[in-house]
Amino acid sequence: MSIETTNISARTHPTVAQAMYQCVAETTVTTMMAQNFHWNVTGMAFGPLHALFQDIYEDHFQAQDELAERIRSIGHTVDGRLTAMIDISKVVEDPEGFRKNDKEMITALAEAQKTLAATLAGASDIAAANGDKLTEDLCVERGRAHEKFAWLLESHVS
Ligand SMILES: [Fe+2]
Repeated sequence: MSIETTNISARTHPTVAQAMYQCVAETTVTTMMAQNFHWNVTGMAFGPLHALFQDIYEDHFQAQDELAERIRSIGHTVDGRLTAMIDISKVVEDPEGFRKNDKEMITALAEAQKTLAATLAGASDIAAANGDKLTEDLCVERGRAHEKFAWLLESHVS
């Protein structure tokens, strides 16, 4: 008996690629936010926060590559310019970000994680609506990772 298979087209709808690009952009902006905080954090919790911010930017650096290469795998190009990504990202760079205190850094980065989780959940819905189960799966996995980072961050200040 053969199993039922889902028909996966070689080139997925551009809407899926656009949603994925939104995810790449916000992941990229948040990567730099975490590294900025890693460099500038001070206070009694310097050690664990310096390490947690590093865990986050390393995770995000890997993830932006995975998301961008998924866009390529489904037949679309990726605009890797930082200005293009900053323009569409719902995670916004704060000009004073590097001057924040430790608690303000945690709050800002937790907010970014929640924004990313929401963007990825939305992208998973768009992938599902277009029959792209494999992109949907990547978005769900990444959304969960961001919710976990939000919890790890917020546990420092609750
Ligand atoms: Fe470092």
